[in-house]
Amino acid sequence: MTANTKRLHVITWGCQMNVYDSGRMQDVLAPLGYAPVDHPEGADMVILNTCHIRDKAAEKVFSELGRLRALKEARAAEGGRMILAVAGCVAQAEGEVILARAPYVDVVLGPQTYHRLPEMLARASRAAGAVIDADFPREDKFDHLPEPAANRGPTAFLTVQEGCDKFCTFCVVPYTRGVEQSRPVAAVLAEARRLVSLGAREITLLGQNVNAWHGAPGGLGELVKQLALIPGLARIRYTTSHPRDMDEGLIAAHRDVPQLMPFLHLPVQSGSDRVLAAMNRRHKAADYLRIVERLREARPDIALSSDFIVGHPGETEADFRATLKLVEDVGFAQAYSFKYSPRPGTPAAVAPGQIAEAEKEARLAELQALLRAQQAAFNADCVGRTVEVLFTGPGRHPGQIAGRSPWLQPVHAAGPASLIGHLARVKIAAAHPNSLAATLLDQEEHQQA
Ligand code: SAH
Ligand code: SF4
Ligand code: F3S
Repeated sequence: MTANTKRLHVITWGCQMNVYDSGRMQDVLAPLGYAPVDHPEGADMVILNTCHIRDKAAEKVFSELGRLRALKEARAAEGGRMILAVAGCVAQAEGEVILARAPYVDVVLGPQTYHRLPEMLARASRAAGAVIDADFPREDKFDHLPEPAANRGPTAFLTVQEGCDKFCTFCVVPYTRGVEQSRPVAAVLAEARRLVSLGAREITLLGQNVNAWHGAPGGLGELVKQLALIPGLARIRYTTSHPRDMDEGLIAAHRDVPQLMPFLHLPVQSGSDRVLAAMNRRHKAADYLRIVERLREARPDIALSSDFIVGHPGETEADFRATLKLVEDVGFAQAYSFKYSPRPGTPAAVAPGQIAEAEKEARLAELQALLRAQQAAFNADCVGRTVEVLFTGPGRHPGQIAGRSPWLQPVHAAGPASLIGHLARVKIAAAHPNSLAATLLDQEEHQQA
């Protein structure tokens, strides 16, 4: 680290879009001499990239800020200055509140203004007062962000779509991320090529509603086909999708594009049509089942993942049973499930029929037991099979390497570190609750087209 290098520490909470955004903020700050460090002590700048989706999101931010304040004061006592920035969805939703309650924060910025970070930083460095920017600017931040700089390993995220116009009644995302926007196809392809040239073998396309991407005719299915032409890009994934936007072209891509991995996170939220209507999901349980059927026709080995909410206002015991029934009908490889959490400013938060906490907990426990059993069954079913793993790093034990199966399961095997960044065939030897143990077969470098 040279004398004029500044230390930047980024704390990332929330979804993969935030992970991507944190990387891009590092890219923006790199030309200003900021290099990432993995701890906040002694840093010249700390960015807290926040999430507002559930629970006591704001409280969690303030308690973390309290901890950072002490570090900032320690730095000042040494004659240095730590610039403290709050980014992400809590910054967007509660910017003014943050500055009022935590006046030692220097910069508050929403997800659409990261490209203005250098300018905000310059203002914050000059002035004593705080800088806040929670605009939804007219210019596209992506046009003002530098290209991804550092090699971040064999797997990369690439945001292609942002924002959401769906307005599910429980959700803050349309308020924190703004209206739906798609990046143009040329920009996405250029960034993908660059990521591959930096060592990415797998790219996960990101968006709050990634399959609503409309940056080219043909939608996301067409984008996947074009990405598959990039030499060296072995794996393509996308997340998160909405059932309403699961079109024919995208389903066909699962049949036609071998690089598109046979795993799809497709949140359904509930199996009850009454609750789905109350949530403003604009699809029924049967629509979801039909989509799953078409996906399985296109790609028989496709595995499904989902998000569920239990205890949405008005959810009866019978509604909840309908969710369990849907889970049984589909058979998920894995899933996330949550207790409904009232979010300020959303319609469901003030809807009648709020469900008691104890009831939500009981339903969640029952749903999670079923989902866990399905996941265990899916993993157990893999034992004895030969699968391809993209190794991404060392395993937990010496001599081990770890990576992911096509179905996103963590896999570890005894093997040389030289395989990291490569695909290799393994035989699955055992299934643990959250990972698979494997033995290496041959090292088979994926075809460089
Ligand atoms: N765009 C994605 C999901 C984004 S939020 C989609 O439409 O599916 C990720 C997940 O958080 C959601 O799928 C939902 O299951 C959960 N979630 C969102 N708001 C919530 C709330 N108020 N309470 C509990 N869970 C919530
Ligand atoms: Fe939230 Fe619904 Fe939009 Fe997903 S589709 S981000 S759950 S409003
Ligand atoms: Fe959270 Fe914002 Fe992502 S609320 S889930 S960080 S879009």
